[in-house]
Amino acid sequence: MHLRSLNDFTIKEFEEIIDKAIEMKKNPEKYSEALKNKTLLMIFEKPSLRTRVSFEVGMTQMGGHGIFYSIKDSPLGKKESIEDTAKTASRYVNIIMARLFKQKDIESLAENSSVPVINALTDKYHPCQIMADLQIIKEKKGKLKGLKLAYCGDSNNNVTHSLLLGCSMVGMNISVACPEGKEFMPQKDVLDKAMENAKETGSKIEVLNDAKKAVENADVVYTDSWMSYHIPETEKEERIKIFTPFQVNSELMSKAKDNAIFMNCLPAIRGMEQTAEVIDGKQSIVFDEAENRLHAQKAIMLYLIEKIKK
Ligand code: CP
Ligand code: NVA
Repeated sequence: MHLRSLNDFTIKEFEEIIDKAIEMKKNPEKYSEALKNKTLLMIFEKPSLRTRVSFEVGMTQMGGHGIFYSIKDSPLGKKESIEDTAKTASRYVNIIMARLFKQKDIESLAENSSVPVINALTDKYHPCQIMADLQIIKEKKGKLKGLKLAYCGDSNNNVTHSLLLGCSMVGMNISVACPEGKEFMPQKDVLDKAMENAKETGSKIEVLNDAKKAVENADVVYTDSWMSYHIPETEKEERIKIFTPFQVNSELMSKAKDNAIFMNCLPAIRGMEQTAEVIDGKQSIVFDEAENRLHAQKAIMLYLIEKIKK
């Protein structure tokens, strides 16, 4: 079993892993040998702070070991195919995570690996982030079902896509606010899948071009970078103009519920997707959110490794 996107989990599995992460966070010592002598290979094609450190620490805390492997130092894509990398690496390690540009490369890695493969971000999805996000929302609000999350900004985006899948799996309502145009909107296949989940869970899903409308009555206001890792610097000026009406500032936050929380997966730039007052303000939970990457990923790794033992 792999985690290529949240579609790999059934709704039941997904909720179980979130609850497991909540429990593991409370009792970390109970799991200090849970992955003893196990090794995680961490393949990186893009930069990272949270993902790299939290995965490696997660392995250490469970008695295992993480190996950082940068694509820059590898023959991958030059002298070695992704298929051969997967076939070889899975002879050595017990689990592989990879942060890659293309979703199709994660799919090939998984297809050719005899051990579980975890998507640690591609241009299309960021499943580990959203598991950590839903964990923190559940911890802060005591539930997920029936809450409203408003996402504002670049929505043809890995985090938005995984939020659409994740919220629709747990019965949360999600309003996405983004500029008009296919290049800024969630991709159709993701929306279709989220709508399909929503039929089962009762989530309401909408995509709007008006940030104020999207955040009305929201319990959670979420934004992500306007300059994701794969976006060229040359597009920055133009994107700032396009996304500025979707910036999360104090005025926009005031349209959400009084007890709404502000989230950003980080890295964040103050003055771009949100103002400093919002991200450094009392409604912001961005560092609790970042911490949960550690707990959620420990639960994910444990689940995937135990699953193949059965
Ligand atoms: N949120 C997140 O994935 O952060 P990094 O890019 O630092 O890993
Ligand atoms: N959308 C962002 C998420 C970073 C964690 C990116 O891809 O850079």
